[in-house]
Amino acid sequence: MTPKVAVVGATGNVGREMLSILAERGFPARDVTAVASERSIGVEVSYGEDDVLRVEDLDRFDFSGIDIALFSPGARVSAVHAPRAVEDGAIVIDNTSHFRMEPDVPLVVPEVNPQAIGQYKKRGIIANPNCSTIQMVVALKPLHDLARVKRVVVATYQSVSGAGRDAMDELFNQTRSIYVNDPIAKEQFTKQIAFNCIPHIDVFMEDGSTKEEWKMAVETRKILDPEIAVQATCVRVPVFIGHAEAVTVEFERPITVANARAALKEAPGISVVDHRVDEGYVTPQEAAGEDAVFVSRIRRDSTVRNGLSLWVVADNLRKGAALNAVQIAEILIRDHLRAGGNGDARVRARGDAH
Ligand SMILES: NC(=O)c1ccc[n+]([C@@H]2O[C@H](COP(=O)([O-])OP(=O)(O)OC[C@H]3O[C@@H](n4cnc5c(N)ncnc54)[C@H](OP(=O)(O)O)[C@@H]3O)[C@@H](O)[C@H]2O)c1
Repeated sequence: MTPKVAVVGATGNVGREMLSILAERGFPARDVTAVASERSIGVEVSYGEDDVLRVEDLDRFDFSGIDIALFSPGARVSAVHAPRAVEDGAIVIDNTSHFRMEPDVPLVVPEVNPQAIGQYKKRGIIANPNCSTIQMVVALKPLHDLARVKRVVVATYQSVSGAGRDAMDELFNQTRSIYVNDPIAKEQFTKQIAFNCIPHIDVFMEDGSTKEEWKMAVETRKILDPEIAVQATCVRVPVFIGHAEAVTVEFERPITVANARAALKEAPGISVVDHRVDEGYVTPQEAAGEDAVFVSRIRRDSTVRNGLSLWVVADNLRKGAALNAVQIAEILIRDHLRAGGNGDARVRARGDAH
């Protein structure tokens, strides 16, 4: 099957990365259409090295004939237009938070729960998890298989690109303003982000945690194991691309550093870079533009019986968003759509949506 693909949110951080990854991986698309808001009608976006696509307006876009729609236009926009795309016959892979916790929408990280993709038939929608959840569960999966994860305490160091392109501009402009002694403008973040760290991502919840922290807990349970306890502190840092996480894990069963390292080395999507010397670990700046989830600083947590601490880094726009979505699309085609062909898949998605 060679699908027709629409990338919705194509002018944004995630959408642009999706177009670049589709081209890079030689995704077997018959046709790719770039879609964004009315503001971007006619804007040109790159599709690979040589091709340029002209952006179409989502409000007026007809999804009939589109097989797979990769959505990243923000939660409120996906809420309205993803069901419309399904109604028109497309299967939606959505990067926003809107559908993630709905019980009949699979939430998928291909290295962790690829089997869940088959549940797309229920609503015609597959959700892509939050960027900080994705890289953490990729690293936890082989360790969970080895010794069963009981509890995770994580502190994140999240780059500004995770908040969209305007947030990247804000870091750049504030940094510049500081150097030239201009007043600092603050719109995307609640406090100055240049030369600072902000322990606040997304809105506050009633229990004092933020929604980003809540997402890491509930999404990890939905993807990996409903029994895992997660305590997260999510922090925005003045880095353009690449999220880092200090992850401390308590296991049910004994686990050694050597066993953990061996399991992580074998696991798909992970690169272990862990030398206990200067430069023997990966930082966000080095992970930017890469596909792997990097694991460094593997060591014992001697404060509990079975504990390990890790440093986990990934490109939030690639594995944390666009790459994960494209990998889902590849599995969807390979394992679910190929035999039945395009028409069959679309009828199934639409038929089960009601
Ligand atoms: N960045 C990450 O690391 C990351 C990771 C996982 C998930 N996500 C999620 O992905 C979504 C997009 O993130 P982003 O970083 O790409 O944001 P972004 O850089 O701000 O881009 C937003 C995109 O959405 C489009 N859009 C906004 N309002 C629209 C509307 N009414 N109709 C059609 N298109 C509209 C924009 O089009 P215009 O240019 O026309 O305004 C643009 O293409 C968010 O929900 C975010 O939470 C992001």
